[in-house]
Amino acid sequence: MARILLGVTGSIAAFKACHLASDWTKAGHTVRVVETAAAERFVTPLTFTSLTGEPTRTAMFPDSPAVPGDVAANPAPATINHVKDAAWADLLVVAPASADVIARIAAGMADDTLTATILAYEGPKLLCPAMNVHMYDNPATRRNLDVCRDFGWTVLDPASGTLACGDTGRGRMPEPEEIERAAATLLAGGPDGPREDGPQENGPQESRPQGGADAQATASLPLMGLNVLVTAGPTQEPLDPVRYLTNHSTGKMGYALAASAAELGAHVTLVSGPVALEEPEGVDVVHVTTARDMFEAVSDSFAAADITVMAAAVGDFRVEEIAPEKIKKAGRESITLTLVANPDILAWAGGRKRDDGSQVLCGFAMETEHLVRNAARKLAGKHCDMLVANDLREPGAGFATDTNVVTVLTPGGPDEQTPHIEHWDLMDKTTLAKRLLLRLAALRK
Ligand code: C5P
Repeated sequence: MARILLGVTGSIAAFKACHLASDWTKAGHTVRVVETAAAERFVTPLTFTSLTGEPTRTAMFPDSPAVPGDVAANPAPATINHVKDAAWADLLVVAPASADVIARIAAGMADDTLTATILAYEGPKLLCPAMNVHMYDNPATRRNLDVCRDFGWTVLDPASGTLACGDTGRGRMPEPEEIERAAATLLAGGPDGPREDGPQENGPQESRPQGGADAQATASLPLMGLNVLVTAGPTQEPLDPVRYLTNHSTGKMGYALAASAAELGAHVTLVSGPVALEEPEGVDVVHVTTARDMFEAVSDSFAAADITVMAAAVGDFRVEEIAPEKIKKAGRESITLTLVANPDILAWAGGRKRDDGSQVLCGFAMETEHLVRNAARKLAGKHCDMLVANDLREPGAGFATDTNVVTVLTPGGPDEQTPHIEHWDLMDKTTLAKRLLLRLAALRK
């Protein structure tokens, strides 16, 4: 787990820094926030301290003397936090970075705690500009950003959209997920992404990653060292050599989960039904066809899995007897198929998971009615640690879309029968996958 120093400057986007502080803390990182005076106007230091559990750094000399020169009223700071923090951190992120702080960084100034910390800091660093489009387009800002790049900063370009001032154009701070991805890449040793040679044996990092292929940096990814098992896609249940029963699942959610888990540092096994998607990089894929094949593949990997997410749309039934030859229509008005139940893989896993809390299990439920009631029943009945429910009729949710709208259920609501329920807004499946995985990792004991 990494030590992240998060610089926050005066911008309406400062509220997004709360999400960063919260997400990183939940993922197990230690986050220390340094606010400029202007940032304190938008979000109080107490907010960040509450989110991170770490002291929030603010003014370098908090007790300005009422009478200039009155040393008794203006004691020296108890510790030289800017130097200590700079030596402590594995990663420095400034988000949002105002035009003003970018100019001060480019000029090498150290006129407040944040810029003094930045000047003393020598590790990987990420700058996330956020400002009005004209301020961003101003040649002075452009030049200052180029200078920052020369100084070794990774600059995350702002997004386009409607800005707080009402103008439209580039200037919006990227969403927290994008910043978290860029931060994970830097922690993994550079902008080219994580090393591919897996966990190192050097133990937890004591020293800061120095860019490039630092072996210890990889250990900072939030799912490093964990085995993640994901099921995805539909199953196909043959009727005869040419026909089968299936459903509309495309596998997009499961593939996003597998790809995201690998990106977050996990060793990932993806058990996939037949889909038209490319295999995610760095993931062990086991291709299966029927529910029984999927069950077999899951039972091979489940015991070793720390996090299991079953996003597959498994066929509940299969034909009792598969016809050995193509079923002919000639002379038939109807045919009767006898269907028998397939094994419920999720329920099997729920009954078998380790009871010390070190193995967490997440199921998905797609419903067309009584979403929460049905999902709550599955959460309890299949002994899951999380159940992600989506309503097929909700716009942007369900099969074949690149987005999802979900309700997340976890045990531990107001009473034993009632789960804890959260309704999450529409988001793309990769963002959702990352959020779910970080949550699941946090649920592990
Ligand atoms: O009961 P229902 O099929 O709606 O439950 C959905 C959840 O159970 C999903 O996580 C799905 O992957 C899993 N499941 C399973 N094996 C089955 C049926 C569903 O693992 N036979």
